Amino acid sequence: MTAPAPWTARVLTVFPEMFPGPLGLSLAGKALERGLWALDVLDIRDFARDKHRSVDDTPFGGGAGMVLRPDVVDAAQAEAEARSGSSAPAIYLSPRGRLLDQALVRELAAGPGVVLLCGRYEGVDQRVLEARGVAEVSIGDYVLSGGEPAAQVLIDAAVRLLPGVMGNEASPGEESFERGLLEHPHYTRPAEWQGRAVPEPLLSGHHENIRRWRLEQAEEITRQRRPDLWARYRREQDDG
Ligand code: ADE
Repeated sequence: MTAPAPWTARVLTVFPEMFPGPLGLSLAGKALERGLWALDVLDIRDFARDKHRSVDDTPFGGGAGMVLRPDVVDAAQAEAEARSGSSAPAIYLSPRGRLLDQALVRELAAGPGVVLLCGRYEGVDQRVLEARGVAEVSIGDYVLSGGEPAAQVLIDAAVRLLPGVMGNEASPGEESFERGLLEHPHYTRPAEWQGRAVPEPLLSGHHENIRRWRLEQAEEITRQRRPDLWARYRREQDDG
């Protein structure tokens, strides 16, 4: 019997050399070596048809930059989907997309994997996104020079949630966003450093006091820094 395929990120890019990049190191890199997830990088240029292997062209209507051709992206997307089976969602990384958050990361990590289309230049011809039902996802309200770092962010966030990846590290239950709160602060030895003491409750060994202190800190920091998260947290508390 063959083992089932692990969670797989298929990446479509004109810069395949950018992968695995940071995903080959640390937690994600070790998990990749252990076969807990798989990375399959497709070079969009391999799907160009003309002798110059061109993947992009000037925008209709004029303007700066170049646009990835729909026929080339479609052929690359077709190959990625054939390798994945049709079940992995196809995502184009773009500042116009739905904002990536921990809820979406959890949803993607729970599935079979992702097919990630990375744009360069001005973007991708809209028709191939529509024809292939590609969703758009943004990692934040700023503009990168290409989708590759955004794809790496999405993959990193998903991979660390896969079974077996976190090992001895803290379970994700208490970290930022999992409860709708930012995380409490952390301290280690020495107990006093440059005249600054570690907060008393953490030295007490009293688990209930420690839990309560951390929750209070998490609530306070969320209230101060992220009024949007705080309002939602309060609503959810009220709703029981
Ligand atoms: N490509 C360029 N900017 C991006 C962003 N903010 N998120 C995702 N993909 C991008």
